[in-house]
Amino acid sequence: MIILGINAYHANASAAIVVDGRLIAAVEEERLNRVKYAAGFPAQAIQFCLNCAGVKLPEVDHIAVPRDPWARLETKLLYAMRMPHFALERLRVMKRFAGIRQDLATEFVIDPAQIRAQFHRIEHHRAHLASAYFVSPFDGAAVLSADGLGDFASSMCAIGEGPGMRILGEVTFPHSLGMYYTALTQYIGFWKFGDEYKVMGLAAYGEPEYLDEFRRIVRADGPLSFRLGLEYFCHQTQGPDMSWREADRTPVLGKLFSDYLEKRLGPARKPDEPLTQRHRNLAATMQAALEEVLVAYWNDLAVESGMKSLCLAGGVAFNCVANGRIFDLTPFERVYVQPAAGDAGLSVGAAFAVQHEILGRSREFQMDHAYWGPQFSAAEISNVTDSVDSSDGVEITQTGEQQLCRTTARHIAEGKIVGWFQGAAEWGPRALGNRSILADPRRPEMKDVLNRRIKHREVFRPFAPSIIEEAVGDYFEKTHASPFMTFAYPVRPEKRKDIPAPTHVDGTARLQTVSRSANPLYWQLIRAVGDETGVPVVLNTSFNDNEPIVCRPEEALECFRRTHMDVLVLGNFVLERKQSAAPTEESAERFAQRQN
Ligand SMILES: [Fe+2]
Repeated sequence: MIILGINAYHANASAAIVVDGRLIAAVEEERLNRVKYAAGFPAQAIQFCLNCAGVKLPEVDHIAVPRDPWARLETKLLYAMRMPHFALERLRVMKRFAGIRQDLATEFVIDPAQIRAQFHRIEHHRAHLASAYFVSPFDGAAVLSADGLGDFASSMCAIGEGPGMRILGEVTFPHSLGMYYTALTQYIGFWKFGDEYKVMGLAAYGEPEYLDEFRRIVRADGPLSFRLGLEYFCHQTQGPDMSWREADRTPVLGKLFSDYLEKRLGPARKPDEPLTQRHRNLAATMQAALEEVLVAYWNDLAVESGMKSLCLAGGVAFNCVANGRIFDLTPFERVYVQPAAGDAGLSVGAAFAVQHEILGRSREFQMDHAYWGPQFSAAEISNVTDSVDSSDGVEITQTGEQQLCRTTARHIAEGKIVGWFQGAAEWGPRALGNRSILADPRRPEMKDVLNRRIKHREVFRPFAPSIIEEAVGDYFEKTHASPFMTFAYPVRPEKRKDIPAPTHVDGTARLQTVSRSANPLYWQLIRAVGDETGVPVVLNTSFNDNEPIVCRPEEALECFRRTHMDVLVLGNFVLERKQSAAPTEESAERFAQRQN
């Protein structure tokens, strides 16, 4: 039984393939076409999934898309009548979905009649719920999806029981925690699609000074519900202006906050204006108000479901700061967050919804690691390293696994910045030790060094640590697994001096706990770092420089050449730059431009 899940015509386009109940491959289109958050039709991702399963499109039995034009049709029609612009955009998307068979046939150059798969439309939030629960380790759990908007709802919750889910409630447009967070992110001056996590990082520098006002902007509203103060927003009158540019397939989002919000809170920050303490306090308040609502929602869900396990998906599930509080503030004892909790994960969710909810098959798969993307053979990597010659000023050595970890650990301990490219690419937005840039967490200056030499990003954004799971309790105040970097925990006060580089200003860190079973090589490397330094932790940031995370070895080498990394480890090859990796003036200037 072959099921292909496709998230198409939407930001974070992706594909996933499930064969006989097990996930075989999953990848976001952005990793392959190199357009950040790529929207549109994920032709390359579909091709990759088919290749991994060793099948051709006509052999696929079921094709699942996470969108149901018929869901909440009355509400959609009501708003469409009020907002003609929005209605046109919806019609455009619906037309694209109706033509998916033809698009597939065109992309794969076959007659549409050759596609014998049955097509399924899975409602957006049901696909989110499925993306978390059906791949979780739990036989029963409360399940929550919360995002901006999908099929005219912004959240849905359910009880997952065995191979099925029972929906407990939903919150529909225009009330939305995702819209709330995005609107305030724009108001604080961050307008790019996906900028919300920047403001989450900024929040740690402020105090929630404006909480009284924010409780009018968003508030819990009875069991399993919340409301927005709609006068602070304009998406309900002008439409949630989410579309994508056909030309470069980039998602575009219109202004979401109203003039009234500016009247109450003061003028919005323009993107080029300096960040002041007022903006930091606004960010802190925005995060605090979200957490108040989430904590109420989670507790309602714990009561209604009677469950001790919780599964999360939807963009709000990326709020690792809020997630880190679940264990203290709710009865939930175990939490699973799908690594691609945002809309990319819908392809996995839609496929598993077909497997279990439509076909009624039993569960036999857990997503206990995130390495579902492209991987490259030793020969392919060797071809790439062959392109490096003496004029590059790089020394190349090839070594076995154990020596590779020891050598790399020594480089990290010496303060070098190491590109680490191994195995299959990660599923989801986080680099989890296969496409990572690694550095010594003990050096307080490492954050600035990384920013100046490679990442060129805002100084207030924290870097993250990866730690072997056996040592988590030694360094953090909580020990619940965080294999996909979706929780922030307080670092033990006495250990903050040991890992200052990835410890945020509020004393927390968004950690990745690494188990030997999930990623043996990465675990071995971190342990080797522990042997060198006494601290079994590495600073781990994604292998990229303001682009999608590198996917192919060629892209890793190009990023290494373009930036000021000291060492690149490509499979079993170690490439060490022999010339100074100090930043050029041009690079330093780029860094300075991003500072506020
Ligand atoms: Fe979504």
